[in-house]
Formats: sequence, structure tokens, C-alpha cells
Amino acid sequence: MSREVVIRRMKAQERGKVISITWKTGLFGEDLTGRHIVPDKLLFSYLYSWYYITYEPENCFVAVVDGEVAGYLIGTSDTRIQRRRFQASIIPKINKRVLKLQKYGILYDQKAKDWLSGTLHDEILSYQEQLPAMIEEYPAHLHINVLPGYQRLGIGHALMDRFIETMSVADARGIHLITTSINSKAVPFYKKRGFKVLSEQSFDARWVGHEEASVLVFGMHLDR
Ligand SMILES: CC(C)(COP(=O)(O)OP(=O)(O)OC[C@H]1O[C@@H](n2cnc3c(N)ncnc32)[C@H](O)[C@@H]1OP(=O)(O)O)[C@@H](O)C(=O)NCCC(=O)NCCS
Repeated sequence: MSREVVIRRMKAQERGKVISITWKTGLFGEDLTGRHIVPDKLLFSYLYSWYYITYEPENCFVAVVDGEVAGYLIGTSDTRIQRRRFQASIIPKINKRVLKLQKYGILYDQKAKDWLSGTLHDEILSYQEQLPAMIEEYPAHLHINVLPGYQRLGIGHALMDRFIETMSVADARGIHLITTSINSKAVPFYKKRGFKVLSEQSFDARWVGHEEASVLVFGMHLDR
């Protein structure tokens, strides 16, 4: 890395930056802007980043490059607790937002409806089904996103180092994460970091024309 990169905990005033990066890297690693697939940035953040930046800021890290937030890694040391809080606090927000989007005609678009039903099913229901055994062994999980202009500079590795160190201190036995087979940047990155594929399942990615895509669950044990 030739530019000055600082890895540190997210500050409360940087939550908006995190939400924006979630959106700009959210479509299998690509920018959702102008793609007319996902109906709304806030709804998307409710699904993938809002919980962590609101309820677990101690497990949220940012990479700051020359004063700009260039990427983040957010997660939890205990997925069981995270899922309970997500159900209690975030699902009502999602429902409220969906009603509002419907009221203003945004969710009447068929593509947006397909995205929402596919995502809610894949991210929430099927995730729950495979949880019990897996999270016993890999209780921590994470989401990592670096803006395109800052990728392949070592930022992902630096964020991952910081998170692993934090999870080890938190006494987590292992970390899991979920991605898709078509995420051509994330899959090699996780493999390079020592994550192994725990399961592979097909999912409904017809809404973006990726019938061949599958959901990959990766896991890695931690030294304690
Ligand atoms: C995956 C991601 C976090 C990696 O972060 P990064 O800062 O680019 O990664 P680093 O520079 O630390 O490490 C580089 C390694 O990541 C992988 N990688 C990153 N960009 C890649 C690309 N364009 N093509 C293939 N592999 C890539 C490779 O393993 C690479 O090693 P190599 O350069 O020796 O081939 C980043 O690409 C990203 O945020 N992508 C978009 C969001 C996303 O998909 N997040 C994961 C959701 S599950």
C-alpha cells in the first residue's frame, strides 16, 4: 500500500458512509446504483449493515485512506444473539419500510418484488434452517466491503486481520460468512484467508439473470 491507510473502529458519524458502501458494492460485489433491481438503499442496509453499525459498533471497523472511508468490515462474535436481535429490531424496520415503499409505488415494480421475496427467503429463512450446527462451531460472522477504487491494495487483508484479532479476544471458536459463487473478488479472497467452503446451495438469483449462482457458506476456526 503506498497511500496512508488507517484501520480503526467505526465512529458513529461514519455510519452513513458504511450504508453508502453497502449499496455501492452490494450486487455480488458490484454497484447497485442505477441497476433498478433493489428498490431502496435504506432497505438494503437494513438487510446487510444496519444491525451491526447500530447494535455492535465495537465489532465494526473501517479503513480510512487519506481521510476517506474506503471500506469496512462489520460483524458479530455471536450469531445466535445477533439473529435474535435482528429478528426483534430489524425485521420490524424492514416491514415498515416495505409498506412505505409500497405506498409510494416503488415496490409495485415486479423486479423489486422479486428481489425482495428472493432475498428475504435466502437471507433469513434458509439461513436460519442451516444455522444451529454451523454457528455452534463458527459463532462469529462478518461482512466486508471495500470501494472499487481502493480494492486490491491490501485493505481487505488489513481489515480481516483486525477482525480476527478482535474475535480471538472475544473467545469466538470460529468465523463463518456467506457469499455467492459469482462473487469473483470475494471467493478468491476468502480462500486466500484460509476460509473453507462449508456448504453450497442453489438460490434464486433469477432476478439478476444469474440462474447458475449458488450460495457459499465459508468457515474458519480460530486459535484461542
Ligand atoms: C473481496 C474484497 C473485500 C477484497 O478486498 P481487497 O481490499 O480488494 O483485498 P486485498 O487487496 O486485501 O486482497 C487482494 C486479494 O483479494 C482477491 N481479489 C480482490 N480483488 C480481486 C479481483 N478484482 N479479482 C480477483 N480477485 C480479487 C484476490 O484474492 C486478491 O489477491 P491477489 O491480488 O493476490 O490475486 C473486495 O474486493 C470487495 O470489497 N469487493 C466488493 C464487495 C464484496 O464483494 N464483498 C464481499 C461480500 S460477501
